[in-house]
Amino acid sequence: MEQKLKELQSQALEKIAAAANLKELNDVRVAYLGKKGPVTEVLKGMGKLSAEERPKMGALVNVVRETISKSIEEKQELLEAAAIEQQLAQESIDVTLPGRPVKQGSHHPLTRVAEEIEDLFIGMGYTVAEGPEVEQDFYNFEALNLPKDHPARDMQDTFYITPELLMRTHTSPVQVRTMQKHEGRGPVKIICPGKVYRRDSDDATHSHQFAQIEGLVVGENIRMSDLKGTLDVFAKKMFGEDREIRLRPSFFPFTEPSVEVDVSCMCGGKGCSICKGTGWIEVLGAGMVHPNVLEMAGFDSNKYTGFAFGMGQERIAMLKYGIDDIRHFYTNDLRFLKQFSVHE
Ligand code: PHE
Repeated sequence: MEQKLKELQSQALEKIAAAANLKELNDVRVAYLGKKGPVTEVLKGMGKLSAEERPKMGALVNVVRETISKSIEEKQELLEAAAIEQQLAQESIDVTLPGRPVKQGSHHPLTRVAEEIEDLFIGMGYTVAEGPEVEQDFYNFEALNLPKDHPARDMQDTFYITPELLMRTHTSPVQVRTMQKHEGRGPVKIICPGKVYRRDSDDATHSHQFAQIEGLVVGENIRMSDLKGTLDVFAKKMFGEDREIRLRPSFFPFTEPSVEVDVSCMCGGKGCSICKGTGWIEVLGAGMVHPNVLEMAGFDSNKYTGFAFGMGQERIAMLKYGIDDIRHFYTNDLRFLKQFSVHE
């Protein structure tokens, strides 16, 4: 019996040593120390032993049992530690690896220009107004002092949808819509960005769809000098403090008098290819709101006066960033767009 116990013990210790994981170790525990295991079997056979042998064997069985369970415990600790090690190794993060860059988008140059202009005018007390791109003939032309047969309609080749409905050719209809909302009460001070459409053949400087920004101020005692001062601030903020503006007489049916506004070129008047040697660059159209336009929008032209201006966003962006072809704005070439990213 003693021999058998010794064998059992060494067998068990071998298996414990060989157990590769916690499950195998548990199998060994069940096999040797469980109720149906060989050690229990031996205990059951104790009844047959003599009275002197019994305590001796009892003590031996206990020793064998303890040896096996102590060995299992030790092995268990080892295996558990190894499992934790393995898990740590698997889940470890190499903080020295370079990160994957997160690709960030950026604002389109036209959006940037529009927002910059909006911010500038918001800072002077204007609010931003918007209007529909599919517009009624009334708002796009008639209420702007351009009746149906007016020759000045030829200045803006138009996409008509029906005889009364068209793609707006400028942002000026928003002037009328806004004034109507004010129901004859000033002051009105708005800036209005938006897309406009004209039947043009696309080339480096023309596009059938482009973007404008409109400005309108209506109030009591609004004068041409207010327009001039406002545009002077605009030119200096957008292009640099050393820039000047120049007004040239022009014609728009909805303003009287009307002007074309030039900004002095960055060549400082020496003459370069951008200003075509003149030292001046045309940037926008403007004027004093025509009394007919005020009246048609419900304002008393004896009490109120106003000024308005309209500019092409593309033109401003082209001058500001030195872009030579208007088509760059619409072709979504990432190489072009990335140059305006503020993130890189
Ligand atoms: N709407 C005119 C255009 O598109 C620009 C303009 C706006 C002129 C406001 C005068 C006043 O050409």
